[in-house]
Amino acid sequence: MTSTATGPLVHLNTAGAGLVPAEVRRTMAEVLDREAATGCYETEIHYDALVNDGVYRRLARVLAAPAGDLALFDSATRAWCSVVPRLPLGPADRVWVTPYEYAGNLISLFRLRDRTGCRIEVVPTLPGGDLDLEWMARNIADDVALVSVTHIPSGCGIVNPVEEIGRILAPYRCFYAVDACQSIGQVPVSVERIGCQLLTGAGRKFLRGPRGTAFAYVAPELRAALVPDFHDLHVARVDSATGYRVDDTSARTLELAERSTAAFAGFDTALTLFEEGTPFDHAEVFEALRATVSAIPGVEPLTPGSVQSGIVSFRHERVTAEAIRDGLAAHRINVWRIVGHHTPLYMAERGVETAVRASVHHYNTVGEIERFGRALREVLGAPA
Ligand SMILES: Cc1ncc(COP(=O)(O)O)c(C=O)c1O
Repeated sequence: MTSTATGPLVHLNTAGAGLVPAEVRRTMAEVLDREAATGCYETEIHYDALVNDGVYRRLARVLAAPAGDLALFDSATRAWCSVVPRLPLGPADRVWVTPYEYAGNLISLFRLRDRTGCRIEVVPTLPGGDLDLEWMARNIADDVALVSVTHIPSGCGIVNPVEEIGRILAPYRCFYAVDACQSIGQVPVSVERIGCQLLTGAGRKFLRGPRGTAFAYVAPELRAALVPDFHDLHVARVDSATGYRVDDTSARTLELAERSTAAFAGFDTALTLFEEGTPFDHAEVFEALRATVSAIPGVEPLTPGSVQSGIVSFRHERVTAEAIRDGLAAHRINVWRIVGHHTPLYMAERGVETAVRASVHHYNTVGEIERFGRALREVLGAPA
């Protein structure tokens, strides 16, 4: 649809993808220009130290994880699917997920269940939506092989207590997987403090990296346990007519060889800006967003849990999510129409088929939220 307003863009969809800063765009343009002038593979040699070493070290600092335990991918789903389906489970094993699990992760867990016979159980929540940690502490046992917790879900803004859960799980056999797709760059994420063996995330959201960048932290003990699978040629060498050798022992053995130099050089710049910036400084804007949404008659905020992030989802008793998204777009305000079946155990089970998601980052201002509030009231036909 065409926009009728001409004001500056208000981007409240960092939970979809953040606005890429000028420095990141510049890095990417430099790579692409060099590729056009000198050749793509030749350009990769020029950027070798950055894309094969520097970006891993920087990400390692951001995540508080060893660089050798990090692998880069083109999406968080690919990162997850490079590990989880290869878990060596059996019918005696239980897998715990939470109601906030991302649908893509669930699909791969369902495949894992169908292949191995393991059982999937959903951790219960308390009435306000917080995970029931006492239940977890009471029920955890050594037949739980995997616990998967989404730090912040894509459908609503709850921040799950991943560090506290890590402390509960630490004495037990299970692997602990954290989906940090919506949390990395938005709230502090430290592998060391969480104590997980798998952590996946995307570069394009609150880190403001390019699309097509994502990563996984995979602990050595988890890598060692995985059922062997394909190795690509950046790590493997076919050394006879019948076999191949892999000398690399790092998490890079999980990657595919082909990838975009521009995207990962850009990701490195995004990580640099993140390290140098004040990335978590958005509490005031977030409070303004939450208050603005909650104050409008007929709006139902979907905000389970006692700790909230910069993501607020809501629906209106009469106006569809699509009409709200399009109505706000005409004011040059970006929000997203989310579907319940992407966070099915929470949203779909509560009958939420679609909703509007607004998400703020530190580049958003209280003034922008006021503009959003006025536009939203107009779209909903609510009194100003
Ligand atoms: C919580 C969560 N996990 C996983 C993903 C999948 O990320 P990707 O689209 O990079 O595969 C998303 C995407 O929005 C997400 O919000």
